[in-house]
Amino acid sequence: MAELIDSVSGMVHVSGQLRMSGRRIALVPTMGALHEGHLALIARARDHGDTVVTSVFVNPTQFGKGEDFERYPRNIAADCRKAGDAGADYVFAPSAAAMYPHQYRTYVHVEGITDILEGKIRPGHFRGVTTIVAKLFNIVMPHVALFGQKDAQQVAVIRRMTQDLNFAIALVIVPTVREADGLARSSRNVYLTPTQRAEAPVLYRALRQAEQRIREGSSDPAGIREEMRAMIEHSSAGAVEYLSIAHGETLEELSSLQAGTPVLVSLAVRFGTTRLIDNVPVVIP
Ligand code: PAJ
Repeated sequence: MAELIDSVSGMVHVSGQLRMSGRRIALVPTMGALHEGHLALIARARDHGDTVVTSVFVNPTQFGKGEDFERYPRNIAADCRKAGDAGADYVFAPSAAAMYPHQYRTYVHVEGITDILEGKIRPGHFRGVTTIVAKLFNIVMPHVALFGQKDAQQVAVIRRMTQDLNFAIALVIVPTVREADGLARSSRNVYLTPTQRAEAPVLYRALRQAEQRIREGSSDPAGIREEMRAMIEHSSAGAVEYLSIAHGETLEELSSLQAGTPVLVSLAVRFGTTRLIDNVPVVIP
């Protein structure tokens, strides 16, 4: 069982003590409803820090109007138990009022890279993410922070913020944890109906097909995207929001594929009211 810290001052105090005694702090930021994906980050955090802190905070500023903030799954008791079993020492779970008190006015905005892909469909989302992550960095004062490849654009945005604002924090990126049938683990998978759940693995199959085409030397990203779309629309009722074959670092859409380029193949597909995102990073041989 990880120890629950529910106040900002309590967390600042513990982190200050840990730092003074020379311990390395590893932070795993989450919104809770912990699943195998989160737990893999916590387990990896043990390799990077003497003390592992997991934050659990459903961050209101990163949800848009009409998104699932209210219905987002919450279960702090189960999260403390799971986090502890996976190797976390502390769960930092502040209230929304503590993180965003009355009169709160300050936001962190990373330009450009936040306007495309997820940012285009969810305006303001990354502003909420970078704001809360910057606050968590200042409160927990970690030496290292771990994030999942599952949210590839989030990683790119947080990398930029960490460099631009001179946070002396190393970032560790953990590969996506999947169900046996390939579906990426996500707190939002619980929203899927049995039919949607049965269809959803087509997303990973489409990503793998794109990866194979790129490895085979295809020079036609548009053709690969069309093939992915056909596969998804043939095997599911999912509505494609975007399919992207982009440069792995800038996330700019590629019109050709040159050897040695890091590529991110990513997608967002809506199953009813549930949005699923997934991606596969590929280096062109
Ligand atoms: P959340 O969706 O709870 O995810 C917390 C962390 O777990 C993120 O770094 C995410 O990429 C990682 N993660 C989620 N599913 C994963 C999977 N299947 N395999 C590997 N890692 C996975 O991402 C957020 O919360 C928030 O935006 C946050 C960064 C906490 C800021 O509020």
